[in-house]
Amino acid sequence: MRVAVVGATGAVGQEMLNVLAQRDFPVTAIKALASARSAGKILPYTGKGGDGSKTVTVEELTHDSFDDVDIALFSAGGAISEEYAPSAVKAGAVVIDNSSQFRMDDDVPLVVPEVNGTDVSAHNGIIANPNCSTIPLVMALDALAQVAPLKRVVVSTYQAASGAGQPAMDELYEQTGDFLDGKELHPKEFAHRIAFNCIPHIDVFLEDGSTKEEWKMVVESRKILHDADLALHATCVRVPVLRCHSESVNVEFDGPITLDAVRQALAEAPGIVIIDDPDTKTYPMPAFTEKTDDVFIGRLRIDDSVEHGIAFWNVSDQLRKGAALNAVQIAELLV
Ligand code: A2P
Repeated sequence: MRVAVVGATGAVGQEMLNVLAQRDFPVTAIKALASARSAGKILPYTGKGGDGSKTVTVEELTHDSFDDVDIALFSAGGAISEEYAPSAVKAGAVVIDNSSQFRMDDDVPLVVPEVNGTDVSAHNGIIANPNCSTIPLVMALDALAQVAPLKRVVVSTYQAASGAGQPAMDELYEQTGDFLDGKELHPKEFAHRIAFNCIPHIDVFLEDGSTKEEWKMVVESRKILHDADLALHATCVRVPVLRCHSESVNVEFDGPITLDAVRQALAEAPGIVIIDDPDTKTYPMPAFTEKTDDVFIGRLRIDDSVEHGIAFWNVSDQLRKGAALNAVQIAELLV
């Protein structure tokens, strides 16, 4: 497989190079693509298909970049995907796109391998990687739907800076120092100061008062779970965490459940690990899940405000399972 990473200098792009190497993906030739600004930059790459230097040199993305590429992993934003993914497909590559550009197109599978991996086969050249908050949620919901039909889901997210890219991570880091030094702050990547703050606003606002990020969680979950009527409401919040997203989730079922059955279904689900022991103050937290691959679930309990309800908390590394790892797992399904 000749593989190109589009947006290789970005937070997700660099993680894609790491994941390809760590999972020993059968790369025969690797290409790192980014803007003209980055051409010539050298990135670490220890996987197969390298030139032996344990690095890869960034090339400028152009419409001719894909003539010798089988799989193109895109993570350079929706506008770049819109402009260049058709060129990649025309050149014969399969595009795995991390942006939201094509996710809801009817002929584009939207895939979380543990949930709807078989959907990949229906692609017409482009396969979409879901939103980084949607992925851990649908992994849990898919397992829970085996216990009893889902009636209603309410989720509140606590999303790391990494979801907005490398410049946003840099801003959190630098702004935290500036805040402590008493300097004037100049937010660029976020609508407001992110240091020592929470911002209930990710992506643009829609007419109904939701944000586009919240809308994405609803429509993407329905598409992945093949459940067009799923009742789901989301509130998405940016928090001053570097790279792991957390979610507080309430699930109401259509019939009776037991906490044991729920716990067992989650424990048996691929890619989910339960970390849940209140007696020893043990629960998942972003500080301890950086650079891991699983979705960690804890604080599992009955929600007795509804007839058949549970509540839980999940944490996963946004750059890994929320983005780069999921994309490479899709590539593995193709292989
Ligand atoms: P560059 O570093 O050259 O700007 P992040 O989401 O972490 O900000 O990463 C965005 C990625 O998208 C980076 O690799 C960035 O490359 C890339 N990118 C941005 N604009 C372009 C462009 N016009 N052409 C190709 N790649 C781009």
